[in-house]
Amino acid sequence: MNLPNILLDKLKSANRILFFTGAGISAESGVDTFRGKGGLWNKMKPEELASFDGFMRNPNLVWEWYQYRRKVVRNTTPNPGHRAIAEFEKYFDTIDVITQNVDNLHRRAGSKNILELHGNIERNYCMECGKYYGVEEFLNSEEVPKCPECGGMIRPDVVWFGENLPDGIYETAVQRAQFSDVCFVVGTSAVVYPAAYIPTRAKEAGSFVVEINLEGTDISGSLDLSFQGKSGEILPEILAAVKEIREN
Ligand code: OAD
Repeated sequence: MNLPNILLDKLKSANRILFFTGAGISAESGVDTFRGKGGLWNKMKPEELASFDGFMRNPNLVWEWYQYRRKVVRNTTPNPGHRAIAEFEKYFDTIDVITQNVDNLHRRAGSKNILELHGNIERNYCMECGKYYGVEEFLNSEEVPKCPECGGMIRPDVVWFGENLPDGIYETAVQRAQFSDVCFVVGTSAVVYPAAYIPTRAKEAGSFVVEINLEGTDISGSLDLSFQGKSGEILPEILAAVKEIREN
């Protein structure tokens, strides 16, 4: 693929790169996306599986679903897209990753500055006393466990529909977006707010915003560039160009 000169120029002079990612970056690792072809929300109901009310109505069903997804994530590995993002750190002063994903794959690929807007599936917390637990502690629980400290219900540390993002995280994300010189928007349908405001906030602040997605999205037209294809193929190509222009 021939990368446009304008992108190469921006990457040559940039100091701060931001990657804003969604489920599509993990698709090539075998983690299902939520929307689009094969998307989870085409066959399952988010109000039952990803809302506080759904959890209170049927806690064991929701727990079982998260235990299943944890197994999927544990049995997979980061793909070339995640690894390329981690490797960008060799070539720029600051690389920020802001992800909507809960799958921990950016960390496992080696990225360091990660903001997880929607939590992390590999953590749990007690709804009574707020104590956090790693995923190992209840690995084999088929039903919602009780907190060993206070007996409260344990839930996954993820943001469900209708819930607020973790305190202050959105403000930090917007700041990082506004400071970025180049912002890559990777594998997200950009329809879940407030996360979906991030690319627009970056663009308004003068960042050069580049989308990488299998298909066009609602925001494609308002960004600087839009590449259609697999992030696991396009990101390594951009990284190869970065190596060339930043090492010479
Ligand atoms: P979606 O499932 O809504 O969108 C995934 C996007 O990735 C789609 O636009 C696909 O076209 C694209 N895609 C799929 N495979 C790809 C590939 N190999 N390379 C590049 N792009 C690819 O996922 P998100 O936008 O992350 O929320 O969804 C946002 C939020 O909705 C999630 O964080 C989750 C969900 O409900 C919570 O859990 C709160």
